[in-house]
Order: sequence, then structure tokens, then C-alpha cells
Amino acid sequence: MEKPPRDARYAKLEERDVQHFRSIVADPQASVVTDPDALAPLNEDWLHKYRGYSKLGLQPRTVEEVARILKYCNERKLAVVPQGGNTGLVGGSVPVHDEIILSMSKMNKVLSFDPVSGVLTCEAGCVLQTLDEYLEEKGFTMPLDLGAKGSCHIGGNVATNAGGVRFLRYGSLHGNVLGLQVVLPDGTILDSLNGLRKDNTGYDLKQLFIGSEGSLGVITAVSLLTPARPKSVNVAVLSVPSFEAVQKAFVEVKQDLGEILSAFEFWDRQSMELEMQQLPHIRDPLSSPSPFYILVETHGSNEAHDTEKLNGFLERAMGEGLVTDGTVAQDTTQFRALWQIRESFAEAGSKAGFNYKYDLSIPINKMYDLATEVRERLGDKAQTIAYGHVGDSNLHLNMVTPKYDAEVHGLIEPFVYEWTSKQGGSISAEHGLGLMKRDCLHYSKPEQAIRYMRVIKETFDPQLILNPYKVIPLQ
Ligand code: FAD
Ligand code: MLT
Ligand code: ZN
Repeated sequence: MEKPPRDARYAKLEERDVQHFRSIVADPQASVVTDPDALAPLNEDWLHKYRGYSKLGLQPRTVEEVARILKYCNERKLAVVPQGGNTGLVGGSVPVHDEIILSMSKMNKVLSFDPVSGVLTCEAGCVLQTLDEYLEEKGFTMPLDLGAKGSCHIGGNVATNAGGVRFLRYGSLHGNVLGLQVVLPDGTILDSLNGLRKDNTGYDLKQLFIGSEGSLGVITAVSLLTPARPKSVNVAVLSVPSFEAVQKAFVEVKQDLGEILSAFEFWDRQSMELEMQQLPHIRDPLSSPSPFYILVETHGSNEAHDTEKLNGFLERAMGEGLVTDGTVAQDTTQFRALWQIRESFAEAGSKAGFNYKYDLSIPINKMYDLATEVRERLGDKAQTIAYGHVGDSNLHLNMVTPKYDAEVHGLIEPFVYEWTSKQGGSISAEHGLGLMKRDCLHYSKPEQAIRYMRVIKETFDPQLILNPYKVIPLQ
């Protein structure tokens, strides 16, 4: 795949720069990485699609170190790519060329937790799952959950405005993040870690950094609102005969389960088959193959009441022919196994070969039409699988070929983006733009909006050192 040429405005790293970085961090041995073997995984993305050739990784331990590093890079015009858990799917987290990798992995301390308000404050490099485990002991949970939870950082989640599987219940990080500490490219520390739920004192600057994908500043700490951990949890995977029935089931599930509904996900038969081909431990949870699968989860506080509600929904949906078969987890092992099916499509696709990965917001009644049309366009040139957060109108459309195939790519793009744009959808529901979709932004945003994005970028990062080649299209 082509990458944009290296921009000559950026300085090339010299030995004196490395020496300088060693002199401004407390633990140069651990914080300054130059060993090619240690750098290799930082240079390559999770999907093995994007690879840079950075000669330097920096792993600061404090916000002051981050500030000193960025101030120097800004003065020297050294380009920098902020990196969290490196699970991003759009080529945003790795260098395109020789940018310095600024990894947040050593900034992973919980700073405070208030059990009355539920406000958690932690450093940006905390792993999502570790935070959830920390909160579990206190009777709370993280307001977001996603398949990459074992590796992704909360800072990366905020930087990408990650959605995930419980968005429908707990909402967006734009609502749950109460405060951020951010280091700007010139080394200024912008601190709004106050954890206030209400604060109408002028512009809410932190919102700009949520979803900015490392292009405006480096997030070093986060305050967020965490909900009480549900006392009762149910999950069911159900067989649904058509995508129309998926939509009807969604309408009914909202009416029947109301406030306890916590996830409503779907995948198609082709996704199930690809996953079983690639991951031998995965089994179809239903007794016979289904055209569509939905996963319904509840988070509540009273087991008897929640189970009764779920059973009521199941009876009604089966009576109406919306659901033809299903399984309800009876214990934690089954609960995990059902979620594992939903959370492993990315891994299965990546094992199968080259992934053409699309993450689209499309009005729910049109969502699956795109998968059908793309499947027809590609015939047997690629495997086409569709799954996603149907409760949020978020389709994950993935095509897979054994190796990169330019003809297949040409059949998919710009078709998928044009189609989505015509429906008034978004070419990135939750994964972001990164390098992959930088030049496709116009399918979702008017020219005026892109112009103001440029103004904001130049205001925060006038030397354009942060995450170059990504997010903002070239003029
Ligand atoms: P990285 O991949 O390291 O970085 C992502 C972007 O954020 C880059 O542009 C990087 O420069 C920037 N960045 C990272 N940390 C910082 C920081 N501290 N300050 C400033 N910028 C920073 N995404 C979803 O939204 N929903 C899902 O359901 C979902 N499921 C996934 C499942 C799997 C199996 C995988 C592999 C990925 C999934 N993703 C999902 C995508 C990805 O995990 C998320 O985008 C995640 O939020 C990225 O976090 P990270 O720490 O890995 O960030
Ligand atoms: C998911 O919902 O599974 C993730 O966003 C990853 C993917 O799109 O494959
Ligand atoms: Zn997703």
C-alpha cells in the first residue's frame, strides 16, 4: 500500500538528539529505546498493514518528562507519533516514516478514585482491562468495553474516542470523560483534571482532544465517570432469520428490557464461518447455522427481575418469528465464551490474510444493504463479512483476501465511501481516520468543517510535529 512521501520539513534524528533525550528522563535505560528488536513491534500496527522505520522510542514516566520531550521535538522540528496500546485499526499509532514513537506504556498509575462520585483519575497508559479489574474490587466498572481491552490504553481510547460494545448503555467518552491532562507540542501542560460533572466556564477544550488521534496534544492523564458495577448480568446469542428481523428485535428489546439493556450486537453467517475457519477453539453457539446472530446483554441489579424480563423478550420474539433459536449463558464461562465469539472477528480476519476494514455509521435500515452490494461486487474475489454494534448503527464491514489485491481494493474504494456518504453516514463510526482515511474525510465532512479542523491543528501544533501524515487531509 502506498504511503505519503516523507515531508522534508521534519529534521532527521541525530545522535545528539538521542543523547539529549537520555539527559532529560529519570531512567534513560528504560525510557529511551533504540534497540531495533525492541522498536520493531512499536513500528508496526496490530493489523500488520502499516509499518514505519523509527529509530527511537521514548517511554516517559511523568508528565514533566513528556513536556520536556515535546518542547525539544518542537524546537528541533522532530516529528512524533503518540502511541498507546497500538491496537488502532487505521494506521494512526505507528510512524509513517521515521517519526519518534512516544509511548505512554510507562505512565500507568491510578491517581485517585472517589467511591461517592465514581470519578476515576489515572495516567493515560493504564490498560483498559486493568482499570476495570481495579474498579471491580470497588463495585464499579469502566463505561467502555472493547475486544482490545487487554492491550489498549485509556489514553488511546480517549484519543480515538473509542466506542465499543457498551456504548449503547453508557454513552460516549465525550460524556464520560470529565477531565484531561494534555501536553501540547510546545511543552505546555494543559490541566483540566478536576473531575467535575458540571463546568460551564467557557469553551470545553478537553472535548477537542477526545477523538483527535494524537494530532493536537499528548494525553497524559484522564478523569472519567464510572458507573456502578451491575450485580446481575445476562447474555444471550440468538438466531435471527433476516436483517429486517434484527431491526425488529432491536425495537422490541428496547421496549422489553428498557433500562437494563447493555449491548445489542450482530454478526452474519459469513463472519461466523470465517471465525470458525481461523480460530479452532470457536464453535457456533447455536444448534444450526443462522443467517444472522444477535448478542443481547443486560446489566441490572436484580437477577430474578432481569431474567424474567429477558425471558419475556425471548418468548415474545420467538412467538413472532424474529428469533428462531438461541442460547443464554448459564455461568461466567459461558458468558465469556459467547462474548469471545463477538470479540474475535478482528483477530480471525487478521489471521485470514489482508483486511480491507471499514467502520461505518449508516442508518440502521440500510446498514446491511451495503454488505450485500459489496458481496455482489466482489463475488469470490474476497470473503466479505459484516458485524457490528447494531444498537449504535455501526457496521463493521470487512473484506479479506489472502494477500493485498489492488483490484479488490479498487472495487471497494471509493464505492464504500460514496455509498455511505449518499446515506448521510460516517466513514468512521469509532476507529478514527488515522492514515487510512485521511484523504477520505470529505465523504463525511463539509469543506468548511475541514478548514476549521486545519485552523485548530495549526493553533495547537503550529510546527505540525504531532502525528504527521494523518487525520487532516493535505490541502
Ligand atoms: P493506539 O492504537 O496506540 O493509538 C490510536 C491513536 O491514538 C493513534 O493515532 C495514536 O497516535 C493516538 N494516541 C494513543 N495514545 C495517545 C495519547 N496518550 N495521547 C494522544 N494520542 C494518543 N475501537 C473501537 O472504537 N471500538 C471497538 O469495539 C474496538 N474493538 C477493537 C477490537 C480489537 C480486537 C482491536 C485490535 C481493536 C479494536 N478497536 C476498537 C480499535 C482500538 O482498539 C481502539 O481505537 C483503541 O481505543 C485504541 O487504543 P490504543 O491505546 O491501542 O491506541
Ligand atoms: C469490533 O467491534 O469488533 C471492533 O471495532 C474491531 C473490528 O472492527 O474488527
Ligand atoms: Zn467496533
